[in-house]
Amino acid sequence: MDFLRETLGLKGSHLGCEHGVCGACTVELNGHTVRGCLTLAVQADGGTVDTIEGLSRAGVIRDLQDAFVQRNALQCGFCTSGMLMAAKELVEQRPDANRAEVREWISGNYCRCTGYHAIVDAICDVLQQRKAAAGHTEASA
Ligand code: FES
Ligand code: FES
Repeated sequence: MDFLRETLGLKGSHLGCEHGVCGACTVELNGHTVRGCLTLAVQADGGTVDTIEGLSRAGVIRDLQDAFVQRNALQCGFCTSGMLMAAKELVEQRPDANRAEVREWISGNYCRCTGYHAIVDAICDVLQQRKAAAGHTEASA
């Protein structure tokens, strides 16, 4: 996380607890979310690191970002990049997740502002939207 934030200037991922608890530092390493604060830069040598900046620019989480705004799923925003990284992994890996499973999935990401309900609402919205776009009609939440 120090390398991303201080050397590369990518400040979108945040440092909260700095010991693997809060999830504010979540990034993807080789397609899987990791705690940035517990991952040494040398561990990513030769691998692919995706941050909130790259995913935002690529547009791959546009629907999640829109849903977070529409549902008021952020207040101070400190947790938001980590939440979005976790949510991205969820909607890709568990497209049929129900509300309880969404809550469990994001339980490793702390939010001190929202009370979580709006975040879960936003993620459930995107699960339903993506299912509808994929031609499914079943509700996921
Ligand atoms: S800063 Fe990494 S988990 Fe909290
Ligand atoms: S919006 Fe403030 S910590 Fe989540």
